[in-house]
Amino acid sequence: MKLTQNQIQQYEEEGMLFLPNYFSDAKVSALREELSRLPEQIPGRVMEKNNQTVRAIHGVHVYSKIFQSLVQHPLLLEPAQQILRDFVYLYQFKINMKAAFTGDLWPWHQDFIFWYEEDGMPQPRAVNVGIFLDEINQFNGPLYLISGSHKEGLIKCNVHKSSVERENAGWEVNVSTNLKYCLDNATVTRLVERGDIVAPVGCAGSVLFFHSNIAHSSVPNISPYPRRLLMITYNSIKNIPHTSDQPRPEFLVCRDYTPLQPVEDDVLLQQVE
Ligand code: SIN
Ligand code: MN
Repeated sequence: MKLTQNQIQQYEEEGMLFLPNYFSDAKVSALREELSRLPEQIPGRVMEKNNQTVRAIHGVHVYSKIFQSLVQHPLLLEPAQQILRDFVYLYQFKINMKAAFTGDLWPWHQDFIFWYEEDGMPQPRAVNVGIFLDEINQFNGPLYLISGSHKEGLIKCNVHKSSVERENAGWEVNVSTNLKYCLDNATVTRLVERGDIVAPVGCAGSVLFFHSNIAHSSVPNISPYPRRLLMITYNSIKNIPHTSDQPRPEFLVCRDYTPLQPVEDDVLLQQVE
């Protein structure tokens, strides 16, 4: 599915493009069923601070033909190629669970600083795609994004002290509520003087494309409604990270740089027995 020129312009102007009701109910059901079939214990699982609730699962496409097909689905892959004006490969695959009552917050941040500092990604030539697995509404912790903030480029920010002081700080630091690189209040205040905070809400199957430098966050979910958001990050094949001495685990940062090819539109349905 190709984006129109107007949609691409909107993405470039605002740093995001929201497509409500993009995947059919049948396709979303196939994704939700696949999620329920995943093994419980996986290396890329992160818990909330209560140590009881799953916060996110990373890299689960390797366990699942359906999730692998989703990565190559024309509804996602073709717009990603248009936005990045290049062939792309999969950089990251994760599902943020934001559970009912206990799903915790994501502080204000830009994604690219993590990929630049931790992985050696040269340029912000990656795009995030969020696929709503549940309805996301005003109550269950929608993403907040500051329209146009991607145009600021990489914003200088303080490294969160507790994340480096923690003796056994590992990869989880970059996906916890105490994110390592957060935007401070003065920066967020300045950014919202130029662009509004937007909180895209819509039914399961809605999709949000957003820029790797857009400032974003989300509040805790104290509602009874789960808010599962599947996130795929595509990177341009000309933007492969420099090799690092201490690479992050493969379930966080994929290192298969093969350009992705689109599959058939109905592939998600064919794989359901
Ligand atoms: C993210 O920043 O990666 C996701 C935030 C969210 O799921 O609310
Ligand atoms: Mn993020």
